[in-house]
Amino acid sequence: MNKISWQSPSNIALVKYWGKHGLQLPSNPSLSFTLQACHTRSELEWENGTGRVELLFEGLQNEKFRLRVNNFIENIRPHFPFLEELDIFFNTTNSFPHSAGIASSASAMSSLALCLCSLEEAVVNRKLPEAEFFRKASCIARLGSGSAARSVYGGWVLWGSAESVAESSDEYAIPLPMAVHECFSRMCDTILIVDESPKAVSSSEGHRLMQSHPFASRRFDQAHEHIDLVLKALAVGDEDSLALITENEALGLHGLMMTANPGYILLKPGTLQIIDKIRRFRAASGMPAFFTLDAGPNVHLIYPERIAEAVQAFIQDELLLYCSRKQRIDDRIGQDPHKTGY
Ligand code: DP6
Repeated sequence: MNKISWQSPSNIALVKYWGKHGLQLPSNPSLSFTLQACHTRSELEWENGTGRVELLFEGLQNEKFRLRVNNFIENIRPHFPFLEELDIFFNTTNSFPHSAGIASSASAMSSLALCLCSLEEAVVNRKLPEAEFFRKASCIARLGSGSAARSVYGGWVLWGSAESVAESSDEYAIPLPMAVHECFSRMCDTILIVDESPKAVSSSEGHRLMQSHPFASRRFDQAHEHIDLVLKALAVGDEDSLALITENEALGLHGLMMTANPGYILLKPGTLQIIDKIRRFRAASGMPAFFTLDAGPNVHLIYPERIAEAVQAFIQDELLLYCSRKQRIDDRIGQDPHKTGY
């Protein structure tokens, strides 16, 4: 059998994608940085066949993952017609524990999309220019999971059409085309695992509820405003603004969940305790440590590397007691995905 493999990083959004339409098109632009420690590695083997798709997750059969990937492959078949004449086999592994309650769809779907784009190059014997290859991979990854569109690039990434960035698009993500201030070049993200249980309401359902959300249109406008403010903060090195907007985005996201119909709450008491402690720490120390949240109870504590020692002591002394089995993952801004084999 022939083999290709790709390793894709996860990412953390500071301005959130929440709400979509059509073929996985976002209702507003989002902005993230790519992580390093949290990643997914996918291996793709293929041989001549009849369009069969098989997969293992962490070396095992996994029904939920199988359904999601099969659905993804059905959606992308029109872009890869040669798949009809191949049998393909994926083996996908995450660097982080499956039980940690961390969404892996961004890194997983990005690694699968990159494998498929490399497979296309191998099968049709045509190499795309690098920029085109990653643009296509981002488009394909988006069809698997919206946030995965951002995981095909390292560093700071924008997905969704933003008026102030001419190159931006709803179809694919782009690496931020402007310079980011030096103070944001070595950002850390410590993920505090408050609760490991599966989410009561999936992100897909959350996106769906935005279609009839009473605050939807104001929210989408707000995201555009936040993108512009974050871009300005990133350009001039305004750490205070970045902290305030990011935290507002995180609480706003959960506010949208609470005020959906039906409303729901993914935050846990520990989440709120940690948020309170982080805000007190920032106020008392003047250090630019701030939080964001994904669609779940775990807290991402974001800070520049230069204050890592103080933040690590703070985590140890004041935050770990709210974490399930004292679990946390120390991550940081990372590089592009990379091909790990042929
Ligand atoms: C809160 O990308 O997981 O993490 O497109 O349905 O797979 P699907 O949703 P998903 O949503 C992520 C939502 C978020 C915000 C973000 O990453 O921008």
